[in-house]
Amino acid sequence: MTNEPSVGVVGGLPWRPERLRAERRVNPLGVGTAHPWLDWRLPAEAEDATPAGYRVRVATSVTGLAEPDAWDSGWVASTAWACRYGGRPAASRERLCWQVQVRVATGGVSGWSASACWETGFLERQDWRASWIRPGASAQRPRSDRRVYLARRRFSLAQPPSRARLYVTALGCYEAHLNGQVVGDGLLRPGWTDYTRRVQYQVIDVTKAVRAGDNLLGAMVAPGWFAGRISLHAVSENHGFPESPAPELLCQLDVELPGVRMVVVTDERWQWRESAIATSDLYDGECWDLRLLDADWDLPAGQETGWLPVERSRGAAGELVAERMPPVRAVEVRPASVTWRADGSALVDSGANDAGFMRLDVDAARGQQVEVSYAEIVDPAGNLYRENLRGAACTDRFVCAGGVGEELAPRFSFRGFRYAEVRGLSSPASLRRAESVTLSTDLERTGWFECSEDLLNRIYAAICCSQRANYLEVPTDCPQRDERLGWMADALLFAPMAAYSYDVAPFFAKWFDDVLDARTAEGGFADIAPRPSARDTAGAPAWADAGVLLPWLIYQRYGEVEPLERMFPSMVDWLHLVHARNPDGIWRNARGNDYGDWVPAGPDTPHDLFATCWLYRSTTVAGRIGGLLGATAEHGWLTERAQTVRRAFAAHYIDSGTGQIADPSRRGSSAAARRFAPIAAVETQTGYVLALMFGLVTGQAAERAGARLVNMVRKAGPALQTGFAGSALLLHALERAGAVDTAYDLLLRRELPSLGFMIEHGATSIWERWDGIASDGWPARPTMNSFNHCAMGSMGAWLVEGVCGLRPSDDTPAFAAFGFAPAITARLDHASYRLHAPRGTLRVGWHWDGPDTVVGEVEVPVGSECRIVAIIADDRFEEAGTRLVDAGASGGGRTVGPGIHRVRWVRIQ
Ligand code: BGC
Repeated sequence: MTNEPSVGVVGGLPWRPERLRAERRVNPLGVGTAHPWLDWRLPAEAEDATPAGYRVRVATSVTGLAEPDAWDSGWVASTAWACRYGGRPAASRERLCWQVQVRVATGGVSGWSASACWETGFLERQDWRASWIRPGASAQRPRSDRRVYLARRRFSLAQPPSRARLYVTALGCYEAHLNGQVVGDGLLRPGWTDYTRRVQYQVIDVTKAVRAGDNLLGAMVAPGWFAGRISLHAVSENHGFPESPAPELLCQLDVELPGVRMVVVTDERWQWRESAIATSDLYDGECWDLRLLDADWDLPAGQETGWLPVERSRGAAGELVAERMPPVRAVEVRPASVTWRADGSALVDSGANDAGFMRLDVDAARGQQVEVSYAEIVDPAGNLYRENLRGAACTDRFVCAGGVGEELAPRFSFRGFRYAEVRGLSSPASLRRAESVTLSTDLERTGWFECSEDLLNRIYAAICCSQRANYLEVPTDCPQRDERLGWMADALLFAPMAAYSYDVAPFFAKWFDDVLDARTAEGGFADIAPRPSARDTAGAPAWADAGVLLPWLIYQRYGEVEPLERMFPSMVDWLHLVHARNPDGIWRNARGNDYGDWVPAGPDTPHDLFATCWLYRSTTVAGRIGGLLGATAEHGWLTERAQTVRRAFAAHYIDSGTGQIADPSRRGSSAAARRFAPIAAVETQTGYVLALMFGLVTGQAAERAGARLVNMVRKAGPALQTGFAGSALLLHALERAGAVDTAYDLLLRRELPSLGFMIEHGATSIWERWDGIASDGWPARPTMNSFNHCAMGSMGAWLVEGVCGLRPSDDTPAFAAFGFAPAITARLDHASYRLHAPRGTLRVGWHWDGPDTVVGEVEVPVGSECRIVAIIADDRFEEAGTRLVDAGASGGGRTVGPGIHRVRWVRIQ
C-alpha cells in the first residue's frame, strides 16, 4: 500500500519530489547507520523552480506518515536536495517510511512525494548471534588450498513467515542458497575490504524463499580476495589470519512468525562438504569436477552422506559493516563468436575487452576434460597473447559430468579478456552456446557523450568499457594480470571522467573507508587501497594525494559533504607528516615509491618538481575543505603552508621572465620510474601542465609558460609526451593557453602516441601504455602492458568539458552553477553531452548551422544556473581574422536559469 497524497494540494504546485534514496540507495535493506542520509530529486516538470525549503517526515508505517511517529523535520529553509535523518535513532532491523515536500522561491509548495522506506541492518555487534564457521580441522590445511566448500543447515517452521531476512558475510566469497535457490543478486559477495579492519555484510529479503515445514539454508564459500592470491607479487599475501587459511562463513536468518522471532545462525550444528570446485582463485581461475555436482545439496530432502562437522573459528578481527554500494553483477551478457581451428580447439571472441568470463554450453562425455584459457589480444594467426598476464594463469578447467548442454563457467573468479581458447571439445557441434558475461559494480549510468567524429565516439566507448572493467569492487588499475589493485593515482586521475559516465558517489563512499584502512602506521595515505601487503609504505606523490583530492571531487560533483567530514582529519595528519619532512616547501622527502608521471610517452618529469606540484594542490584543497568545515586552525595552517610551497616552487622552478618551468638538476627520478622513462628532462610537458592547472604559475608568467607548453607539444608532433598525471590535464592546459586547435590535434591524432592510435589498432578499451602495441602491430613488452587501464582515459574529461563545453564550477558543488563554453572546431559538425546530475538532467551541445553560425543548446536543471560564456574557436577562425560571438550577449556572456536555452554564435570579421 502506498500513501500518495493528492498532488499540489498545498501551495498548488503540480509536481512532487521523486527518486527518494536513503544512503544513496532506493528502498535499501541493511542500512548501517541510525541516521541515514536522505536525498531526492525534483522532476523535470518542476522546470524553472528554485528550491527554497524542504520538509521530511518519517514514520514506522506508510499509513502513519500523516502524523509521523519518528520525525518531522518541519520546514527547513534550504536549497538542498538532501538531509540527514534527524529523528530518534533508528533501531537495528527497523523499517522506516519517509516522504518529502519542497517549497520553491516563489512561495509555492509541491505535493508530498510518494513514500519510500529504508531498513537498518545490525547496528550493534551483539545483534549478531551467529558464530563464524569453517570446515573442521582447517588449521591443518595447506595455505595453497583453494577449494570451494559447501556449508548447510536444516531447520523447520510451523508456519510461513511474515518477514525473513538473511544477514550474511564471509571471509572469502559466498553464494547463499535457500531451499534450492540462490538468494541475493550480487556476485563475489561480501566484496573486498581490508578484512582485518572491516568486513561488509549483506541483508537479503528471503520472506518468499522460507516456507512452513522443512527448510535448508546453505552457502558455497570460496577463497576470493581473503584466502586467494591478491598481491603485487606472485605469492599469496592475503589479509587472513595465519591460523585460518580457509575461508569462513557467518550468517544469521531472522524469521518473523506471528508473535515470535526465530533465528537460524551459523554454529557447530552446520555441516560442510567439498563442492565441485576443487580450486578457485581470482588470478588463476577455477578447476571444476562437474561429476561431483549434487543438484540437491541445498534442498531440505538432500542426501545426508559425505557431510562433515564444521568448527567455530575466530572470524574477522575487523568490524562488521553494512554494504554501502551496489554489488558486482553481470551487467551484460552477449553472444560470442567461435572460430574452430585445425587442431580441434576453438577461439571464442566476445567482441570487446571486458572483465568477466565466458559461459559455454557443451555436449561432452562423462570425464571429458575441457580447458578454457583467456587473453586480451590474439596474434594475426589467432593465437592467444598471454605474456602480459604475468603470474595470473587465467584458465578454467572442467571435468564434465557428461550430457547435453552442460554449463561451463567459473563462479568466484573473473578475467580481463576479449578472447578465450577452448580445448578438449570433440567437435564444433558440441559447443552449443558461447556467451561472454561482463562483471562490474553495478553503478547507475548517468552520462552520455556523442559527436560527429566516429573516432571520438569510439574513444569514449573504450573509456566507458575500461571504467566498467575496472570499477569492480574497488577502482582497480587493470582487470587481467596478477595485480587488479586499488591503485590510488589511477583512481584519482580517472575519477573526473568516471563521474561523467556513472554515478560513482556510492562507489567512492565505500572506497574511502578502504583508503582510511590502508593508511600507514604513522598516518600516511598509501599507494593502494585496500592494501594487500603488510608492508608499510606511505604513498607516492599523486598516489597518496587521492586521499585529499578524491573526496573533494565527490563534493564538487555530487555536493556530498560527508566524505569530506570523514576524511578531513586524516588529510591533515598526512599533510602534517609531509610538511614536517619538507619544511622548505619542496617535497623531497617522504615520497614512498615515488612513481612520478607514470609511463610517459616522453622523458620523465623531475620528481622534486612533480611532487611539489601535488603537494601544493593537496595543501590548497585541504585548506579549502578546512574552511568549508569550519576547522579554522587547520584552515589557517594549510593556507600558510600552501603559500610556502608556492613561493618555494616559484623560487626553484619558475623563470618568470621566460615562463620556463624547469628543474636543471633533474633530481629525484626513482628506480621504478627509470624503468619506463630512463632520462628526466629539465622541462617537460607534464611540468607545465601541473604548474599551470594547479595555479602555481599565474599572470604573465603563466601566459609565457602556456606558450612554451604549446610550442613543446607542437614541436613534438604535435604530440603528447605525458604519462598518467600529465595526460589527465594536458588538453585543459592547452585550451587555457589558447591552443584549442592543438588540443584537437592531439585528440584526433591516430598515430603513436594517442588514444586514436589505440582505437586504430583494434582497442575496445584503453591501454596502460601509449605504446602498448608498437607500430609493428605487436605488444612492445610483456610486463606492465595491460590493454584495459583507466588511467589514460582521464583525457576523456575534455570531451565533456572542452568539446561539449560543460564547465563545472569550482565553488558551487553539484552543478548548482556551471558554465557552457564549448571549444568549437570546424573539424566536428556537432557534439553533445547529457548528464543525470544530482539536481536533474543537464545537457550541453552544439552544431554548425551554415558556415558562419554555431547553434548551442543547454538544458539547465531545476535549482541551477548556467553562465553561457564566450565561445572558444579554433585557430582556423583566428587566422581568418574571425571569431564567433554570442549574438544575444554583451561582454562576458550571460546567466540563464533552469530550462532549455538556445544560443547562436555568429562569425564576425
Ligand atoms: C599499475 C599502475 C599503478 C602503478 C604504480 C602499476 O603496476 O598497473 O596503474 O599506478 O603500478 O606506479
